[in-house]
Amino acid sequence: MGVLEGKVAVITGAAMGIGRASALCFAREGAAVVVADIDDSGGNDTVDLVRAAGGQASFVHADVAQKSDVDAMVAHAVTTFGGLDLAHNNAGIAAPMALLADYPDDGWDRTIAVMLTGVYLCMKAEIPRMLERGGGAIVNTASGVGLVAYPRQAAYTASKHGVIGLTKVAALDYGSKGIRVNAICPGTAETPMVGTARERDPSIDAHLAALHPIGRIGTAEEIAEAALWLCSPAASFVLGVALPVDGGYVVP
Ligand SMILES: NC(=O)c1ccc[n+]([C@@H]2O[C@H](COP(=O)([O-])OP(=O)(O)OC[C@H]3O[C@@H](n4cnc5c(N)ncnc54)[C@H](O)[C@@H]3O)[C@@H](O)[C@H]2O)c1
Repeated sequence: MGVLEGKVAVITGAAMGIGRASALCFAREGAAVVVADIDDSGGNDTVDLVRAAGGQASFVHADVAQKSDVDAMVAHAVTTFGGLDLAHNNAGIAAPMALLADYPDDGWDRTIAVMLTGVYLCMKAEIPRMLERGGGAIVNTASGVGLVAYPRQAAYTASKHGVIGLTKVAALDYGSKGIRVNAICPGTAETPMVGTARERDPSIDAHLAALHPIGRIGTAEEIAEAALWLCSPAASFVLGVALPVDGGYVVP
C-alpha cells in the first residue's frame, strides 16, 4: 500500500517538469491527483501517464494567478475526488533577467503574480478544504534562489524568498490545526524550463554543473521525491522548513 493511499492531492504546474514528476510520484503512492496547469495538452498528457501507471488523476485548467481559477481548481478536487488533503503548489515561469534598474516592470508583475501571489491564492483556497478533513500537508516550490540571491534575477529571487516567508507564516497559522506547510528549494533540475535557458545559452550546462557541489544538475524526479516525502506521514514532525534539494547549491 502506498504512503498516500486514500489521499487527494492538487499539484499546480503539473503539465511538465517537476509538477509532472510530482503527479507521478504522488499517484504511485496512492493519491488521487488533480493536475492543474494553463497548458491543457501537457496537463492531459500527465493525466494519461498517471493512468497508464495505474494511478488516478484528473486535469483542470487553472492559472494560479487568477483567484477564480484557483477556487475552481480546489472545487474540482472536491467534486471529482471528494475533498482535498495534499497540495504541491509548484507552477512557475522563467522570469526575465536584467540588472535591477533596467528590470522590465511587466516581467516583475507577472513573475510576482504567478510565483508569489499564485502560492498565496492556492494556500488560501486549499486550507479551508483541508481543515474540513481534519488536516493535510502543503509543499510549496521555492528555489535555491529563495535562500540566496542570483544576479540579474530580481523578480525570481524576490518571489521565491517570498514563497519561503509565506510558507513559514502558513506553518505557524495552521501547524496546530493539523496542516503541515513546508517548502522545497530545488537547485537546477533538468526540466523544460532549463531547456529554454539552454536554447538561449548552449554553454549553460558546464556553468550549471559547476554551481552544484555534487557535480551535476538534478532530475525532476529527485525534486518530486522530496515533495512527496514532505507530504507523507514520514515527515509528520516537519513544519515550516525550506528544504534545499539542490546537490549542495546553497552550501558554499
Ligand atoms: N527546474 C529548475 O531548475 C528549478 C529550480 C528551482 C526552482 N524551480 C521551480 O520549480 C517549479 C517548476 O519548475 P519546472 O522547472 O518544472 O518548470 P517547467 O517550465 O518545466 O514547468 C512549469 C509548469 O508551470 C506551468 N505554469 C506556468 N505558469 C502557470 C500559471 N500561471 N498557472 C498554472 N500553471 C502555470 C507551465 O505551463 C508548466 O507546465 C517552478 O516554480 C520553478 O520556479 C525550478
